Amino acid sequence: MSLNIEQLRADTPGTQAVIHFNNAGCSLPVKETIDIITEYLQLEATLGGYEVKNKYENIINEFYTEAGRLINAADDEIAIVSNASDGINKVLFSIPWEAGDVLLTTEVEYGNCYLNYLKLKEEKGIEVKIVPSDDDGNILLEKMEEMISPKVKLIAVTHIPTNSGLIMPAEEIGKITKKHNILYLLDACQSVGQIPVDVEKIQCDFLSTTSRKYLRGPRGMGFIYVRKEVLKRLTPATLDMVTAHWKDADNYDLDCSVKIFEQWEKSYALVLGFTKALSYLNNLGVENTWKRIQHLSTYLRSELEKIGGIEVTDVGKKKCGIVTFSVAGVDSEELVNALLQQGINLSASLRFSSVIDMDKRGLEGVARASIHYYNTEDEIDILVEKVEQIFAYAMSKKEIPN
Ligand SMILES: Cc1ncc(COP(=O)(O)O)c(C=O)c1O
Repeated sequence: MSLNIEQLRADTPGTQAVIHFNNAGCSLPVKETIDIITEYLQLEATLGGYEVKNKYENIINEFYTEAGRLINAADDEIAIVSNASDGINKVLFSIPWEAGDVLLTTEVEYGNCYLNYLKLKEEKGIEVKIVPSDDDGNILLEKMEEMISPKVKLIAVTHIPTNSGLIMPAEEIGKITKKHNILYLLDACQSVGQIPVDVEKIQCDFLSTTSRKYLRGPRGMGFIYVRKEVLKRLTPATLDMVTAHWKDADNYDLDCSVKIFEQWEKSYALVLGFTKALSYLNNLGVENTWKRIQHLSTYLRSELEKIGGIEVTDVGKKKCGIVTFSVAGVDSEELVNALLQQGINLSASLRFSSVIDMDKRGLEGVARASIHYYNTEDEIDILVEKVEQIFAYAMSKKEIPN
């Protein structure tokens, strides 16, 4: 199916107001998503929050079907969480760790994930080991196999890092984890909604993602996938009445269901908005939207590479819609601010978000233009022109003698 870009942009009011290349931060929602959220909030205000929820129960439950449809999972393998980090932490702290267990991970982990690996190290006495990548960011799978021992309990992998354009070979890693019967957690925060993600093909046991980025849903939502077969090996870090049944002063029962990761209280307005965003994408087909993201990001990289003084800092054999670059003589945050003044949204990826990778590459910060399918070649041309102007301005300032 070919995408009707004009229609997609007409569905997205924000495209009329800004040039938005901060989709890896938070993308622009479609109007239907905003409408359903505001309508539902109005109903809560006029009918009562609990009463509306009971009436909308069936529609709310469509969330699980749409999320499952997108990643090829069953409805009862999906739980609603607050964001990708929340989902990852819920999984991490539900694994029965023993001192000496090993968590194997990658060089490109996001800060919120790695911090919690360190917390597990501190609290449970586990070891955190990093599988190296080559100088172009490609993970060394043969090293991963060499590092496997009976002590390895979890392999935790970032599918698409925040700061480098890379796509990790999630399926190849899945083959290794299955061969050695090791739990596999995929941080799919930047991948679900951007590239096709199929949990059966990848063979991960856990996946966590967020609503506001490539899925174009509202902020403050996410979901996790947990493979049914691994549920009985987990103990949630905290309990909630969704799945824990309080029997008496000393006892409770716990359901063995993915809902152990959900909380009873949540924003149903946002759940409905998130569902709309998911069904919009499912109807377009992520294979189609991914083709366009690839086309546009390849175009942006090639245009940036034509300009002297600009270095595209992306790595990896397979690249995604996140395009990172540095401009000689211009700090990445200054560049982002200068572009913002001109109605162009980008972001800066700074060292703290991915310390191991940034240190390895000797980077303090890079500018990040993250492309979505609703962006256009014209918008890219404007961005490249502005970046070139900012670079020229910085150079001329340097040449002016004091
Ligand atoms: C690769 C990656 N993982 C995890 C996260 C955390 O996502 P959230 O802010 O939804 O918790 C981010 C956020 O930017 C990310 O880029």
